[in-house]
Amino acid sequence: MAPLIYSGLLSIIITLSALLQPPCAAHINACRSFCGNITIDYPFGLQQGCGHPGFRDLLFCMNDMLMFHISSGSYRVLEIDYAYKALTLHDLHLSTCETIVLGGKGNGFEVEPWRGPYLAPDSDNVFMLIGCSARSPLFQGFPEKHLPCRNVSGMGCEEYYRCPAWSLLGAQRIGSQGSVYGSGPPECCALPFEAVKSINLSRLECEGYSSAYSIAPLRMEGPGDWTYGIRVKYSIQSNSDEFCRACEATGGTCGYGGDGIRQLCMCGSSNSTSNCDSMVSGSTRGGRGRWSLMNILTGVLVICSSVLVKRNNVG
Ligand SMILES: *[C@@H]1O[C@H](CO)[C@@H](O)[C@H](O)[C@H]1NC(C)=O
Ligand SMILES: *[C@@H]1O[C@H](CO)[C@@H](O)[C@H](O)[C@H]1NC(C)=O
Ligand SMILES: *[C@@H]1O[C@H](CO)[C@@H](O)[C@H](O)[C@H]1NC(C)=O
Ligand SMILES: *[C@@H]1O[C@H](CO)[C@@H](O)[C@H](O)[C@H]1NC(C)=O
Repeated sequence: MAPLIYSGLLSIIITLSALLQPPCAAHINACRSFCGNITIDYPFGLQQGCGHPGFRDLLFCMNDMLMFHISSGSYRVLEIDYAYKALTLHDLHLSTCETIVLGGKGNGFEVEPWRGPYLAPDSDNVFMLIGCSARSPLFQGFPEKHLPCRNVSGMGCEEYYRCPAWSLLGAQRIGSQGSVYGSGPPECCALPFEAVKSINLSRLECEGYSSAYSIAPLRMEGPGDWTYGIRVKYSIQSNSDEFCRACEATGGTCGYGGDGIRQLCMCGSSNSTSNCDSMVSGSTRGGRGRWSLMNILTGVLVICSSVLVKRNNVG
């Protein structure tokens, strides 16, 4: 009789352990992933519902290339710097020291209005607009009014003109009236993003653009040493940050709901609007809920075995 009870008990234990996921499952970050060698972590996400809602539908991984998609176009992400909250982007039609791309093909940089609070080029990033028309909004009021063009973090057009790309262009005049030494607007106008709030080549009536940034505090020798690309800072409001910290501290993963607005804390098989600790009293299927269920079952099994042991001793 006793062996039968034991084998029955054993099968119950096996079934229960199969039903109960290992306790560590609740602590696995369900959203962290990679694209090539770039880590995708909060506030970013590749899957729907992962990360912060301000960065939804932003990053896509294609053939191990991380792409960044905003209203002005698609860019390749070269780096995500989580410590400095910055991304480095590359636009296929960005002019560099070696090549100048004309024809208004460049993306520039413009985000959907709702994304504005979350993403903006770094204040140390210089945009150099090339071959802009005299009718460009940049030069309205020219020459009486002050031009918005200026150097940014030691980088500007005077130095950019020394690049080989400009000698390749030669004396060729670009833009409708542009000329380095003439009386019209300059062929290149450097400015920080804040000066215009949107780099839209067709609105600004420019032929092309370049973008460079400096992250090292040391002074760079010349335009050949500049890093070409768009350095974008990302930010999240502190209350969102607190929500995510509390969620992660209780073993959850930060995400957002189907509305694309509300933040969610993913706790294993269920979601919470606060954190995974609140799951104990609420849903019984939470990570903590599963733990208490396991404790109860373990207790029951211990009692059962001791009863059986006693019975065997008596018999
Ligand atoms: C990622 O890979 C690229 C080449 O594919 C390399 O240039 C870059 O330095 C790598 N980045 C890191 C952080 O390893
Ligand atoms: C939890 O939220 C995520 C992201 O919105 C969603 O994909 C998932 O289906 C939700 N899970 C449950 C159990 O509702
Ligand atoms: C850029 O400006 C043009 C002309 O004003 C406009 O049609 C276009 O929608 C703008 N691009 C973006 C991404 O908003
Ligand atoms: C930018 O700096 C260079 C030298 O560093 C200077 O010659 C030039 O006038 C400056 N340009 C502007 C627009 O301030």
